[in-house]
Amino acid sequence: MSFERVKEILTQLTKEHIILLKEVEDLENQLEKNFSEEVLNRALSFIQEKVSKHAHIEENDLDEALQEAGITDFDIDALNFGHRTLDEIAEHFEFLVNLYKKGEREYRGKDLQKEIVKTFHEFAQTLKDHFTEEEHFFFPDILKYDLERFE
Ligand SMILES: [Fe+2]
Ligand SMILES: [Fe+2]
Repeated sequence: MSFERVKEILTQLTKEHIILLKEVEDLENQLEKNFSEEVLNRALSFIQEKVSKHAHIEENDLDEALQEAGITDFDIDALNFGHRTLDEIAEHFEFLVNLYKKGEREYRGKDLQKEIVKTFHEFAQTLKDHFTEEEHFFFPDILKYDLERFE
């Protein structure tokens, strides 16, 4: 296998970033202006399906393509570390949403709806920072291997 597959995956991931960022912003707006269980469910499936599928490609497909291209010294764990931070925020978000669905309206003396909106905002911000880090730091680092092969 060549480096082509690695490049293909990086292009695909970068395109997905644009789509996911647009959707996360839309969900943030909806949660602020149009808070409902329906929007909460959309936010949950965004996190559980779309973002997790994207992370899965990075942790598995990209890792596999790197191995096949003979790149064994790239630290994929550093890239994956950001996903664990996102998972932790997602877990808290899911916990709060479940409370809301059970009819709770307060969490630790605070307004539950506000806490949910705040936590989703934190998720969105962390996702943005993570994508920026990948595009400006990790992905260019991977692409450097392609140039080094011919030195
Ligand atoms: Fe990622
Ligand atoms: Fe990514």
